[in-house]
Amino acid sequence: MKLYRLKPDAPDLLEKKRVAIIGYGNQGRAQALNLRDSGKQIIIGLYPESPSWRRAEEEGFQVLRDGEAVEWADLICILVPDEKQPQIFQEVIKPRLRKGQTILLAHGFSFHFGLLSPPEGVDLIMVAPKGPGQLLREAFTKKMGLPFLVAIGRDFSGEAKPLALSYAQGIGGQGVVIVETTFEEETITDLFGEQVVLCGGVVELVKSAVEVLTEAGFSPENAYFECVYELGLIVDLLSRYGLAGMRERISNLAEYGAYLTGPRIIDKRVRKKMKEVLAEIREGKFANILMKETKKGGGKYLLLREEEKENVLNQTWRRLSPFIKGRA
Ligand SMILES: NC(=O)c1ccc[n+]([C@@H]2O[C@H](COP(=O)([O-])OP(=O)(O)OC[C@H]3O[C@@H](n4cnc5c(N)ncnc54)[C@H](OP(=O)(O)O)[C@@H]3O)[C@@H](O)[C@H]2O)c1
Repeated sequence: MKLYRLKPDAPDLLEKKRVAIIGYGNQGRAQALNLRDSGKQIIIGLYPESPSWRRAEEEGFQVLRDGEAVEWADLICILVPDEKQPQIFQEVIKPRLRKGQTILLAHGFSFHFGLLSPPEGVDLIMVAPKGPGQLLREAFTKKMGLPFLVAIGRDFSGEAKPLALSYAQGIGGQGVVIVETTFEEETITDLFGEQVVLCGGVVELVKSAVEVLTEAGFSPENAYFECVYELGLIVDLLSRYGLAGMRERISNLAEYGAYLTGPRIIDKRVRKKMKEVLAEIREGKFANILMKETKKGGGKYLLLREEEKENVLNQTWRRLSPFIKGRA
């Protein structure tokens, strides 16, 4: 694995490219704003009824129908939700592609699972920021470095890699850290990390801990501060100072308790389940479930989202948010 920091004087292949950003959501908006501030020529591509259309225009961008944007551009950045990419690509993007253009993705899901594949003569690159769009924008405006995963899917032009690096520089600014990877590795580790740790495992751990405390008669506010608010602080220490550095910055009481109890909670059974989940992701089981659900209209997904809204965490957040807003 290659890991390096881009130099400000690295060659800029974006200079002569016309860039279309398809989608103006989390990543699309942040990447478009960063590219514009880097002096690049860009256009936003959306569908005519898109609620994002007005916002993009209000923020000073020229917006075209996505098909027109594809025809105009040299580099087409597909920043629409992963589950919608195959259909949009097949119906709107692919019929308008020509040799010499490049497709850019911010996540390898669609390509790795064979849901999208550019035709002969069209390059495919991935530039995946390691963070949500809002943080990508904040890191750019504060001139902070952010890690990016970069991968090459197709390289007919021989320029795919320098173009991917120039794009990362354009949306990330100075001091960008690049990790060169493959579509497969990025896709599998990203899905695994999201499901097992970041958005699935940690959230269920927190929900369970808060429920156990409140069912035992402790106040939800106290449970919230302990298990949610402080989680942010500990994760911050972990990422800034490493594991040993985080341990140095907590009390001996907290550290010793962690050694005794942590492995009781995350035990061999949990590791076995992690391995099962990894195998399922690799086999494409999750991808199949997601695509079937999308074809059916996403009803189950919306139901699960609605059900979670009444969780004690959300109720407590609504009460506490006026006091703790501003700490992301
Ligand atoms: N979330 C993150 O921060 C993050 C981090 C790293 C990588 N990524 C990757 O970035 C990509 C985009 O994800 P996201 O979270 O930024 O998506 P998102 O916030 O859900 O944004 C979706 C955008 O796509 C637009 N859209 C929907 N259908 C469209 C169509 N037919 N034509 C043109 N635009 C259309 C939406 O418009 P309307 O809302 O107006 O319908 C919206 O502006 C994904 O590959 C994802 O894995 C995301």
